[in-house]
Amino acid sequence: MLLTMSGITKTFPGVRALDWVDLDVEEGEVHCLLGQNGAGKSTLIKVLAGAHQPDSGEITWQGRPVRLPTPVAAMRLGIATIYQELDLVEHMSVAENIFLGHEVATRGLVRRRAAQERAAELLGRLGHGGIDPRTPVGRLSAAGAQVVSMARALSHEVRLIVMDEPSAALDPDEVDNLFRIVGDLTADGVAVVYISHRLEEIRRIGDRVSVLKDGRVAARDLPARTTPTEQLVARMTGREGRSAFPERPAAPATAAPVLTAEGLAREGEFEPLDLRLRPGEITGLAGLVGSGRSEILETLYGARRPTAGRVLVDGRPLRPGSIASAVRAGIGLAPEERKSQALLMLESVTRNVSLSSLPRFSRAGWLDRSREGGAARRHTRDLALHPDDPERPVRTFSGGNQQKAVLARWLLRGCRVLLLDEPTRGVDVGARAELYAVIRRLADEGVCVLLVSSELPEVLGLADRVLVLREGRVVHTAPARELDEHRVLDLVMEGSPT
Ligand SMILES: Nc1ncnc2c1ncn2[C@@H]1O[C@H](COP(=O)(O)OP(=O)(O)OP(=O)(O)O)[C@@H](O)[C@H]1O
Ligand SMILES: [Mg+2]
Repeated sequence: MLLTMSGITKTFPGVRALDWVDLDVEEGEVHCLLGQNGAGKSTLIKVLAGAHQPDSGEITWQGRPVRLPTPVAAMRLGIATIYQELDLVEHMSVAENIFLGHEVATRGLVRRRAAQERAAELLGRLGHGGIDPRTPVGRLSAAGAQVVSMARALSHEVRLIVMDEPSAALDPDEVDNLFRIVGDLTADGVAVVYISHRLEEIRRIGDRVSVLKDGRVAARDLPARTTPTEQLVARMTGREGRSAFPERPAAPATAAPVLTAEGLAREGEFEPLDLRLRPGEITGLAGLVGSGRSEILETLYGARRPTAGRVLVDGRPLRPGSIASAVRAGIGLAPEERKSQALLMLESVTRNVSLSSLPRFSRAGWLDRSREGGAARRHTRDLALHPDDPERPVRTFSGGNQQKAVLARWLLRGCRVLLLDEPTRGVDVGARAELYAVIRRLADEGVCVLLVSSELPEVLGLADRVLVLREGRVVHTAPARELDEHRVLDLVMEGSPT
């Protein structure tokens, strides 16, 4: 056995994040860690990375008991970790980030050259030779940053790589690439601990599965490829799996559109687009990362100024490039990079949720805290926030539960047009079903929803109507029930217009 963790316990104030957890990892295996948001996955791997000290428990590495008092100690053993919240330094270059911690490597001109060359080599190996090692990391896309984090892991002699939701920001072909790398690594005997909420990924690359639930091991040693999905979901949630998607209304929405886009375009990003969003309807935008999906949402929201065309709400044009004008007209955008764009990490979930609705809870300049809390709590309940204590600071919630806080904010705000960019990223399978139900309920109540998601089953399962986008152009529009994954994939790849 390469690694054995036994009896690991870790408590935070008020929460037992890990309760006597065991995990063992063999050389060359892909060991998947499953569990709902807040189950303890990230905490466990932070213990393994030397970033958290457990209250109790033992760790054995290649048969010898070890202590991991610091991240450096873990790294020295050959344990590399790619965190869920990437820990890159934005203003430093790609090469500097990759060799951060191997300080010597980046000092002096000659060394810096060497580091850049070595960085380029690593990036090339990852299929991203196009990234310039001198670029500041802050300028890269989410996927680019992920690659840098990966290159940093590979810059050490590794025996075990831990990946905490590495695919969340990746496109299907980038995921393929990631899996190819994982295949190469395991063929060399390197072990991988892989965390993901996407079960189909676990089927593709996993060997064994361990399931965590409420900080305890709920199942171990399950075969990744053959364990039935219902069984995995049941182990994670403690209840039977059920259909994730709410039922669609039988008839297509016929109400007059609230939002109309006429010939809306941004040069170099997306081509002239006509769009009508009707109350009661969920419109899906399918397409690869970089196909212009997020840019379209941001332009509708006024965060980007169109180079042609206009956006109208109730027939009245919005001021181009003005968020204020969009918000006044009732448009809300839950952005893709939720954490960096949206959360006050030290404030409570309640405050984060009510942030953009505060005037509603104020009278004569006084904030009515109990109304604020009550409204926030309703929404965090709907989304199954865990632990169910919205007064705790956001910082102390797991990744998926932080997502829920931002989403709850948009739901509370009572938008007439809701633009959702990757709403389920990082959200577990159980909570996804809750979120889908909430989105459908909003539509039923008359909200216009525009949904962007990299996960085709989600777009096809939740939306009523789907626009397929390729390289900034809508190549197909159809009711979701007339499409299937193969057809959409063909369209986004080949884009033969129909
Ligand atoms: N720094 C912290 N302070 C207080 N509580 C914390 C802290 N970090 C994690 N927790 C709590 O520990 C529990 C486990 O969190 P963890 O991040 O390990 O979950 P996770 O399984 O990774 O979930 P996700 O799928 O959402 O990423 C949660 O209840 C979380 O709120
Ligand atoms: Mg996590």
